[in-house]
Amino acid sequence: MLPDTPPMQSFPTTRMRRLRRTPALRRLVAETRLSVDDLVAPLFVADGLEDPRPIPSLPGVVQHTLDSLSKEVARLVALGVPGVILFGLPRPEQKDAVGSQAFASDGIVQRGLAVVRDQVGDSMVVMADCCLDEFTDHGHCGVINPLTGDVDNDATLPLYAQVAVSQAGAGADVVAPSGMMDGQVGAIRTALDGSGLVDTAVMAYAAKYASALYGPFRDAVDVTIADGGDRRGYQQDARNRREALAEVALDIAEGADLVMVKPALTYLDIIADVRAAVSVPVAAYHVSGEYAMVCAAAERGWIDGPAVALEQIGAVKRAGADVILTYFAGQLAEALGG
Ligand code: PBG
Repeated sequence: MLPDTPPMQSFPTTRMRRLRRTPALRRLVAETRLSVDDLVAPLFVADGLEDPRPIPSLPGVVQHTLDSLSKEVARLVALGVPGVILFGLPRPEQKDAVGSQAFASDGIVQRGLAVVRDQVGDSMVVMADCCLDEFTDHGHCGVINPLTGDVDNDATLPLYAQVAVSQAGAGADVVAPSGMMDGQVGAIRTALDGSGLVDTAVMAYAAKYASALYGPFRDAVDVTIADGGDRRGYQQDARNRREALAEVALDIAEGADLVMVKPALTYLDIIADVRAAVSVPVAAYHVSGEYAMVCAAAERGWIDGPAVALEQIGAVKRAGADVILTYFAGQLAEALGG
């Protein structure tokens, strides 16, 4: 690359300044172009609901019925959004120690996937979050070892494999293990291949941090971790940067087709590191707390919500994300003109 110093000039005005004068000039020379093609919309589907139920801490996001899910997906397809990721809420009385509704063939995610798959054909990428926490009565992402009281990594893997196979069978193009169990990608890849589901892709939540920004999501899926617990024993420590690359490398070695960094804004350095280090597509999840903060401040008139949303999601793209999961997907698609 040539040295980027401006040529000798008699006036102080620089090239950079000249090229930002009009909207058209700025548009022409923009280094980052956020597009509807970058976006994936997270959607929640709940068993046993009569009507969609608003989630107070995620304004504009609801727990869907199968019917309202189908309408929302139709809207997103029309807007040009290329992907959705489904999360499910079983009936509360169906939660158990192993999260069996996560891999039931008639589980709510499986039924949701079937409805969406039927409706969109191949015009949209249908993803499923592959985890147990929405389905366990203790709210952890894996099964509990009765001797230690901790999440049992190795005993959880066969369950994730069952969840993935049942989601793929129900129509998921992509399964996305989000529980940060070691070996989850390998266990899922082996099980999918063993069931002939060789075309189902795995998007690993590879660098997922134990973040305080998941609060509204846990409202959205009615998850409370038993005994005031947390996920610090299996999700990454926010202070660690190099560790993310080690996690990503392991997941790619195990067969991950896409890798994800989560949350997004507090981990832009990680997104940039991962993008520079690997060749697979890198996803980033702008999570519930990030969305809720923008909505709350905008509601008070303290910030311009749509402008901040565009700036934040644009920053995630600039940092290097190829795929962005965001609750702003629909709104951004409207703004960007899909
Ligand atoms: C776990 C899962 C979580 C999110 C996605 N998958 C919650 C957690 O790890 O506690 C959070 C997403 C968000 O905050 O938007 N199944």
